[in-house]
Amino acid sequence: MSIETLSLKYKNSKLLLLDQTVLPFEESWVEAKTPEDMYNIIKTLKVRGAPLIGVTAALSLSLYAKEEASSELFKSKAMYLRESRPTAVNLMVAIDRLIAVADKDYSFENIEAEAIKIFQEDVNLCEQISIHGAKLINEGDVILTHCNTGGLATAGMGTALGVIHKAHTQKKNIHVYVDETRPLLQGGRLTTWELDKLKVPYNLICDNMAGFVMKTKKVDKVIVGADRIALNGDFANKIGTYSLAVLCQYHGIDFYVAAPYTTIDFDCETGDSIPIEQRQPFELKGVRGHYGQVQWAKKEGVSSCNPAFDVTPAELVTGWIFDNGVYNKDNIKNIKDILG
Ligand code: MRU
Repeated sequence: MSIETLSLKYKNSKLLLLDQTVLPFEESWVEAKTPEDMYNIIKTLKVRGAPLIGVTAALSLSLYAKEEASSELFKSKAMYLRESRPTAVNLMVAIDRLIAVADKDYSFENIEAEAIKIFQEDVNLCEQISIHGAKLINEGDVILTHCNTGGLATAGMGTALGVIHKAHTQKKNIHVYVDETRPLLQGGRLTTWELDKLKVPYNLICDNMAGFVMKTKKVDKVIVGADRIALNGDFANKIGTYSLAVLCQYHGIDFYVAAPYTTIDFDCETGDSIPIEQRQPFELKGVRGHYGQVQWAKKEGVSSCNPAFDVTPAELVTGWIFDNGVYNKDNIKNIKDILG
């Protein structure tokens, strides 16, 4: 079985991942030979985006299963990889599916089949999300988005960016504002790269321009992705999402979140119990890219706070675009039906 997408290659017992830390200037691939490699690739955001980390972690465990005959060792390696990032629940959902297979009938063939199923399912879920979401988009809509939620964040065409892509292919004449997404610039580096490839017209803005753009220009909708959705509809997404939702409320702009059902945490009643990843201070004190290292705050003596995600309360959300349709504030309360 072989797989090739925008961001991953799985063939001949090799897993290659597009290194997202050096995009858009370099397109280089890193190999995840072991779960330890995969752990570091996820931790350092060479691979990122909630659905994609679930899919790639599963494929890396599939390669491990080829070498490891003991289901106990397999499960402990799976549990280790499950810890690589704490907020995106797709990682845990994917790994728990492999652990369930290992418990039932452990073999490389069974683990690989499940990992491929997780991959294929994500491709299909993205397609469904894009179809449902694109129905919300009107001719000439201007859409603001945050972070990166496309083919670099999923196995398929993406979630929020998938909706944008679909509306563009339907020739709806849309325009996009791309939030640069401080501190790691997933919007500025990755979403612009994807939109260039898709030939979708856009303007890149700094995160702190969003309010001004909403006030002075036409913005019809904000569409974002999610890393974990609680049963009441609260959701975690890249830091800055909550601020956008608040701005939307003030400006009367529709605010949508797009995600597959694999982003719902059925054990999480509200956003208050979503674990928020705290990242290293150096990410706030400078940047590193093709231009080298640029530092604007001292490494020592400057204290900082670097949450990678925030939680947007359901009351600020106009609609939840899932693979089985669009939910509103009333029927999101029946979110459990999504599995049904
Ligand atoms: O830290 P990242 O880049 O992994 O954060 C990604 C996001 O917040 C995305 O919006 C989310 O994972 C949805 S991706 C379809």
